[in-house]
Amino acid sequence: MAIYEKLLKKEASISVIGLGYVGLPIALEFARKLKVVGFDIKPDRVEMMKNHIDPSGELPAEAFQNTDILITADPDDLRSCSFHIVAVPTPVDKHNLPDLQPLLAATKTVAQALKKGDYVVYESTVYPGATEEDCVPILEKLSGLKFSEDFKVGFSPERINPGDQEHTLTSVVKIVSGCDDESLEQIAKIYELIVKPGVHRAPTIRVAEAAKIIENAQRDINIAFMNELSIIFGRMNINTYDVLEAAGTKWNFLKFYPGLVGGHCIGVDPYYLTYKAAEYRYHTKVINAGRYVNDSMGFYVAKQCVKQLIRVGKNVLNSKVLVMGATFKENVRDIRNSRVADLVIELKQYGILVDISDPYASHEELMHEYGFGLTTIPDGNYDAIIVAVNHKPYADLTEEYFKSLSAAKGILIDVKGIFRNKIHELKYWSL
Ligand SMILES: NC(=O)c1ccc[n+]([C@@H]2O[C@H](COP(=O)([O-])OP(=O)(O)OC[C@H]3O[C@@H](n4cnc5c(N)ncnc54)[C@H](O)[C@@H]3O)[C@@H](O)[C@H]2O)c1
Repeated sequence: MAIYEKLLKKEASISVIGLGYVGLPIALEFARKLKVVGFDIKPDRVEMMKNHIDPSGELPAEAFQNTDILITADPDDLRSCSFHIVAVPTPVDKHNLPDLQPLLAATKTVAQALKKGDYVVYESTVYPGATEEDCVPILEKLSGLKFSEDFKVGFSPERINPGDQEHTLTSVVKIVSGCDDESLEQIAKIYELIVKPGVHRAPTIRVAEAAKIIENAQRDINIAFMNELSIIFGRMNINTYDVLEAAGTKWNFLKFYPGLVGGHCIGVDPYYLTYKAAEYRYHTKVINAGRYVNDSMGFYVAKQCVKQLIRVGKNVLNSKVLVMGATFKENVRDIRNSRVADLVIELKQYGILVDISDPYASHEELMHEYGFGLTTIPDGNYDAIIVAVNHKPYADLTEEYFKSLSAAKGILIDVKGIFRNKIHELKYWSL
């Protein structure tokens, strides 16, 4: 009997390795129809999930209801499973090189549970070739089984968007791929059980890997272009958002906006591609240029803030600045790889006293990651306020609110341009 039928009859189980932003929704969605084991190495996270709490803060407790799932930190529980899905992080190291350690560690865990006839499908974002060149040899070596003959492998990248309730796992077409025609069909049918608009069958694993990486590299490059425009227009004293609104009336003008590009996808994935390109002796230029521009924006905004302070006659040293928003993007609590950190650290290097507030971020996580935390109640008298992230609760704030927190000759730095045309008395600057 094929794996698809076995899973449907609950004669076989699915395992999901890594229950984070990506893995937990997949595990729970499959567990509405099939038998699932959800495995994570962090026992504290496992305990939370056993109590129906999503440690990533994305899913409500109801998402755990009516599911056939065992959530565990014991790798032995994977032995009962035949279709393994790997969804562990794929970050970069401090030199922006791919850090495959979590992926390879998860692969070793799966390899130790692998049986004849099993499937392993990777969901973690990687460069083209990582599944077959980096992971398959480990699966073969530790299991003693032969790839393609004894076990099958596939790749199905994830498209969820943190904080986005519209584009979810079940509502967006998913790319699937397999190591041969049979595995492609089996993997496709299994994912079709949960993805309402269906799946796209990519011809090879490498195509599926490449497709995911360019989705994010494309966004990175487009946003970098917007950031560069904003630097140019800033010098010309032209408001970038006014320009984009005007140009956006043309049918084929692409809608991207300037801003800080952080997180573990758009700001990271292009590095996976540049790394792999170098192996093929191609030195990426356009992708690197985009990364350079986007990685510089936190420092650029800090510099603009300092210029504004000087322009209104304030003493930069010991001036007080409030930074509103610390997460890597709007309406999420994730602070990993947040470029707001560059902004805060740069401001502090000018001798500026910086307070930070955020309705979603955790004080402890910020302290742990960047060495600065949150100010519980902004105390007013700020020489400048920087709205760095366009969180929903900020949308309704008025000039009166910012004035109530500002010292004389106050400045509002509106990184995302959300208060454009609404600020008349404070000195206003936006990207
Ligand atoms: N978060 C997103 O929006 C998103 C979107 C598309 C793709 N991706 C990709 O999906 C992958 C997972 O990202 P994420 O955001 O879910 O990560 P995450 O950090 O939220 O979660 C990863 C989970 O894996 C666990 N883990 C780490 N090493 C493990 C191991 N060896 N064995 C078992 N569990 C392990 C961690 O404890 C954590 O719970 C990455 O490759 C990422 O680039 C993420």
